[in-house]
Amino acid sequence: MIEYKRHLVTAALPYANGPVHIGHLAGNFLPADIYVRYLRAKKEDVKFICGTDEHGVPITIRAMKEGVSPQEIVDKYYQIIDESLKEMGISFDIFSRTSKEIHHETSQHFFKTLYDKGLFEERESEQFFDEEKQLFLADRYITGTCPTCANENAYGDQCEKCGRTLSPDELIQPKSALSNSIPVKKKTMHWFLPLQNYEEWLKQWILEEHKDWKNNVYGQCKSWLDSGLHPRAMTRDSNWGVKVPLPNAEGKVLYVWFDAPIGYISATKELTPQWSDYWCKEDTKLVHFLGKDNIVFHCIIFPAMLKAHGGFVLPENVPANEFLNIEGEKVSTSRNWAVWVDAYVKDFPDMQDAMRYTLCANMPETKDNDFTWKDFQDRNNSELVAILGNFVNRAFVLMHKLCKGKVPTFHIEQKDEKDDALFDKIVSTKKSIESSIENYRFREGLFSVIDLAREGNKYLQDKEPWKKADDQISIDNCLHLCLQLCANLAIYMNPFLPFTAKKLCRMMKVVDRMLEWENGGSLKLLKQGYPLNPPELLFRKVEDEEIAMQKDKLVVGSQQSKVDSLQLADNNIQTSQISNLKSQISFEDFDKIDIRVATITSAEKVAKADKLLKLTLDLGFETRTVVSGIALHYSPEEIIGKQVSVIANLAPRKMKGIESNGMILMAENAEGTLIFINADGGAMNGSSVK
Ligand code: 2FM
Ligand code: ZN
Repeated sequence: MIEYKRHLVTAALPYANGPVHIGHLAGNFLPADIYVRYLRAKKEDVKFICGTDEHGVPITIRAMKEGVSPQEIVDKYYQIIDESLKEMGISFDIFSRTSKEIHHETSQHFFKTLYDKGLFEERESEQFFDEEKQLFLADRYITGTCPTCANENAYGDQCEKCGRTLSPDELIQPKSALSNSIPVKKKTMHWFLPLQNYEEWLKQWILEEHKDWKNNVYGQCKSWLDSGLHPRAMTRDSNWGVKVPLPNAEGKVLYVWFDAPIGYISATKELTPQWSDYWCKEDTKLVHFLGKDNIVFHCIIFPAMLKAHGGFVLPENVPANEFLNIEGEKVSTSRNWAVWVDAYVKDFPDMQDAMRYTLCANMPETKDNDFTWKDFQDRNNSELVAILGNFVNRAFVLMHKLCKGKVPTFHIEQKDEKDDALFDKIVSTKKSIESSIENYRFREGLFSVIDLAREGNKYLQDKEPWKKADDQISIDNCLHLCLQLCANLAIYMNPFLPFTAKKLCRMMKVVDRMLEWENGGSLKLLKQGYPLNPPELLFRKVEDEEIAMQKDKLVVGSQQSKVDSLQLADNNIQTSQISNLKSQISFEDFDKIDIRVATITSAEKVAKADKLLKLTLDLGFETRTVVSGIALHYSPEEIIGKQVSVIANLAPRKMKGIESNGMILMAENAEGTLIFINADGGAMNGSSVK
């Protein structure tokens, strides 16, 4: 058994392509924060690392959708995410970004080390390519018809209707989700890490040596390892990301899942010059917090990378959580079915702990769980307000009323069994919380806190000090114990509800240092005779109207997103019809084109040509014939007399036996109809269009 000297705790880096939602909080930020706050309270040496994941397809897609550069996207969302997590009390030691120079250097160096050791295989493969957007398409961005259930909107990696796992090759009529165009296959070369070479070692390390990992984590690893590992590409074709640090690697970047976990290392480097103590010394306890979709990357791929590189510690545990649903439905950022953290802190200022409490109480530790606004209200009103807040408030109010606002003396000679039982409960609660947190059972830990407050209420109810006007000793003993219990509660709740713990310290007029874990279980936290502040309410009730508003917001938000995505799709189709800009020409080139105003004086259909009309144009200085492909859009009658712009010096061309002397200018409207670029407004026939 290693005796750990320091702790390195990471929370999965959120993509900087949108704000974070409460699923992210419940999945990894909150459990990591509770764990770290507990370790800090125990005066352990700990570093808590996170930042934004700023590369990869999610960022480029978002940029494309918003019509801005990837850099603008990551700058915008870094700010939003950073602020909202700080607001919620997530106490990182550093919240960095993978776009930083230090990260590019660190991950390039990591890649180069593996390359120099000859650990990559170079492989050529064929991948789908969107010619219009000039992008290789990740599987998720190819859609088509599912070969099993004929769902026309299946993704290149999965059909969401029948659940089948797919590869893009299996889709019938694949098309690019970015432009709707039909993707082509294109050859490309990449560097693959042969994961199968690490399979035996991983089996030993996880399946034999880490039977203690959570069932959901161990189970996922086992199923990956049982079905055999294969080479995996560690690079991608893109112009957004960390450049592959090799000559002739133009247009190649590191695979985002290669560079992102290295982000934990580069952020630690940025944080402290002692970073290598945390990453390279065997007596560091490294723990990764994340959601279940990230398990394989943190338990198999990243450890294989670390092993390949050598010299780094491996995670001692990866306590991944399952997913948190919202009101019975899966969170969907694209459908806007989510409770966004930045919106929550705006709508419920100073109620961070109410959300922390609800999310911890419903943390999806062993299975997917559900968040409902009703449950948020119930937990807040019936547990925080009615149990915890109520106990503290009663203790303070009674102390001010019956003990002159000072901590009363405890008369030990008169203590009774109920006092002993309460004291025992205070001590045993400390042990239970320790065991819960150290074993990543945060719900259980939180319930121990609330149970202790419940005990406090019961004790007060049994003792009824308000009825003991003739027995001051009994009053004093009871309220002395209740106040010591309040102080212990502050210590125990601190990892879970840090805002409330601080508030309680203010009421007790003690410094935050009292919250150190070693003080838990003591009955000497508040000095006898010490005057305390009047009580403040620790929590406020949440009203029905507030809940109704949040539920509406959720539904309206998701409906709005439907409208937005229809518009977006529409815009996409329209932009997809707009052809790419041709290459630049000089002014001299442009000046060669002679565009003139003319009037259509006669028009007739061209025999055996559906699309062509033969037009006679009056150019002022001459009359000429032009054949134009507009017959599907206009009848001859409706265009006679129309003024048009015509390229007048185009070399003559024969069409269906008729010589055409020029070309009239037309454009396409949103419906695809050709419209005239005319000179309406009384221009003179023959005058130049400049
Ligand atoms: O799934 C995600 O949101 C990823 N951005 C997590 C990355 S975690 C780590 F490896 F950086
Ligand atoms: Zn299907």
